[in-house]
Amino acid sequence: MDRILIRGGRPLHGTLPISGAKNAALPLMIASLLTEDELTLANVPRLSDVTNLGRILGNHGVDVTIAGKRTGDDDLVGQTVRLNARSIVDTTAPYELVSTMRASFWVIAPLVARMGRARVSLPGGCAIGTRPVDLLLMALERLGARIEIDAGYAVIDAPKGLKGAEIDFPKVTVGGTHVALMAAALADGTTVIRNAACEPEVTDLADCLVKMGARIRGQGTATIEVDGGARLKGAHHTVVADRIEAGTYAMCVAMTGGDVMLAGARPELLQSALDVLGQAGAAITVTNEGIRVARNGHGIQPVTVTTDPFPGFPTDLQAQLMGLMTRASGTSRITETIFENRFMHVQELARLGAHIHLDGQTATIEGVPVLKGAPVMATDLRASVSLVIAALAAQGETAVNRVYHLDRGFERLETKLAACGADIERIKGS
Ligand code: EPZ
Repeated sequence: MDRILIRGGRPLHGTLPISGAKNAALPLMIASLLTEDELTLANVPRLSDVTNLGRILGNHGVDVTIAGKRTGDDDLVGQTVRLNARSIVDTTAPYELVSTMRASFWVIAPLVARMGRARVSLPGGCAIGTRPVDLLLMALERLGARIEIDAGYAVIDAPKGLKGAEIDFPKVTVGGTHVALMAAALADGTTVIRNAACEPEVTDLADCLVKMGARIRGQGTATIEVDGGARLKGAHHTVVADRIEAGTYAMCVAMTGGDVMLAGARPELLQSALDVLGQAGAAITVTNEGIRVARNGHGIQPVTVTTDPFPGFPTDLQAQLMGLMTRASGTSRITETIFENRFMHVQELARLGAHIHLDGQTATIEGVPVLKGAPVMATDLRASVSLVIAALAAQGETAVNRVYHLDRGFERLETKLAACGADIERIKGS
């Protein structure tokens, strides 16, 4: 298994390109199931989650083609993926495939909307919490689907098709909103989604569905209306920039000091995190090229932050902020409100010398002047990268194990950081 070795203490300088968002690319790929025509997605990140979802869609009959490289292509520029679901040959998503990636459960929406039935394995729990799918199923039931749970599968049908309805989510759910949008696009009549997720990745999906011929209003707000029923067609769409990747590298720079341009980053999708980084002492400048992050001389200031749905501080940056705050000159408090078990990084950060105390959903972090390198590993993607952030400032060498977590969501992390001066390398496992 691969490992990443980091020898800390080097400031970061240069330009770091931001990839397309994993959490937009995945639902966009799934949306290809809604049409017989070809969906072309540009700026798709090169990630193992993308490859795995391609396999899962292939099992349903989707032809997935990844465009080859052309002369002059930059290795760090996203790839173009063509998806053609002309004929869906299988409406079952088996446990072996869904259990590798939770988001693949979302295929249930286009499958039932287009084919009138589906059998999709329930995804089960994961490292960051129980993560149920009750609200996703509730949304589909509101649209007229019948659902039974049988031997670990959600068995769903809608023999007469789906009908537009009011869907009122009792809590904000990104996956629930994705599912509701895709199903409503093919349902007869108008659907109103209330308490919808406003995350930029949801807006990106809605914008792509509009290009495919769907009539959608209000994306990016808490109330989305969909006039469904039209046949959807093929489209060309460019995946939105990854705000979590941008926020992560911004925290790397805040940690090490230096001056880096996050090229292609979209500041308006990241305002809450940029505000927090400003409070922590980083200098943030927005330019036409992206976001410039610098920290020179002064130490890291402690912050108090609570995660919230967009536009609040994202749960997907919580672990990274904690990594940064391990070196603050004072006491920080971070409260996690989205997932009940998203503190798996705390024990591993402690191995590097961090002082963190957990009380329920709140972590209190006493900043320390020195972290020391150690072998570490984490159980999920964002937790793993929080260890990278801490390691970049730690004395000596840190070995981050279980790199496959990082490869799920960060496109060539070690290449991007090394190009900015970090002492980081991947050691290939046997
Ligand atoms: C998406 O997960 C993201 N995944 C997550 O990113 C992200 O952390 C999360 O949204 C919140 O922003 C992808 O986009 C692939 P939710 P999702 O439904 O859709 C509860 C990463 O690291 N809930 O918004 O699964 C749920 O348990 C990942 O890239 C129910 O109770 O998240 C949670 O407490 C991790 N019932 C809250 O809602 C349901 O039916 C929000 O979850 C669904 C969700």
